[in-house]
Amino acid sequence: MKQDLLTFANWTPEQMQELLSLAVQIKQAPQAYSQALAGKSIVALFEKPSLRTRVSFDIGINRLGGHMVYLDSQSNKLAGREDSVDVAANLACWADAIVARVFSHSTLETFAEAAKVPVINALCDKYHPCQGLADYLTLFEKFGSCEGLTMAYVGDGNNVTHSLLIVGALLGCHQVVVTPEGHEASPEMVAQAKAIAAKTGVKIIESNDVAAAKGANVIYTDTWLSMGDDTPLETIKDKFMPYQVNEALMELTGATHVLHCQPAHRDLEITGSLMDSDASLLMQQAENRMHGQNAILTHLLGA
Ligand code: CP
Ligand code: NVA
Repeated sequence: MKQDLLTFANWTPEQMQELLSLAVQIKQAPQAYSQALAGKSIVALFEKPSLRTRVSFDIGINRLGGHMVYLDSQSNKLAGREDSVDVAANLACWADAIVARVFSHSTLETFAEAAKVPVINALCDKYHPCQGLADYLTLFEKFGSCEGLTMAYVGDGNNVTHSLLIVGALLGCHQVVVTPEGHEASPEMVAQAKAIAAKTGVKIIESNDVAAAKGANVIYTDTWLSMGDDTPLETIKDKFMPYQVNEALMELTGATHVLHCQPAHRDLEITGSLMDSDASLLMQQAENRMHGQNAILTHLLGA
């Protein structure tokens, strides 16, 4: 039976650990995987812009011996021309997998139901699982293990927060989520992560106070306004500014490293100087997008 990758929420800790190990292996010995997708074609359909996800999938698939077809939102609008269910069924006639970045998670569920090939979530309103995997791969490389670490996410509770919570709970990483009031992570996804955490012994703390991040090993942040949110920056800036990830926050918490999925906005959610400092893991995260996704593709499609 084909397997999709929409959230990781239904994975076991053992499966997650195995996928992380596969990503490490592929990164260390890429030659051994150079034909993992030989003869396979993957369609990547994007309803929203992307730099990292699009390029890392394209080049990554190429390095596994496969071929990617990119469909942008201009020439292939999902809404309007035909139903999503028919788009997915047609794509599955030719493609061996569908990678999709969509506005609504329900579109991915429709795709997964209609397509006879694996569907991979390249970001939706609720999750960004490929990002989560790359980020924990980065922490694994830096600290030797994710187990027992504490990550403090500071900023807007969003799709990235949710995937960090879920993958972190699977890999044994404690979580502190600090957001301004009214911008908390979704209770639905926090509950999914807590259900996993109850089995893995992970602690998940939510707070509106940055002091809750004291003692964290790493700080993570993301944009204050996600793609598709047209709230004017000026209306939220004052509320978010106390949650800026900067040198003072690093000192307050004692965290040694900072992460951001990017695109980042210098001197808004994170200071430019911190992005450029030795504490920054941003480029390692970006590089690991490709290795993590290649592990996902090899796991779902590899010979
Ligand atoms: N982090 C991330 O998904 O970046 P892009 O939006 O550029 O793909
Ligand atoms: N939360 C951000 C992540 C971008 C990679 C967004 O959805 O725009």
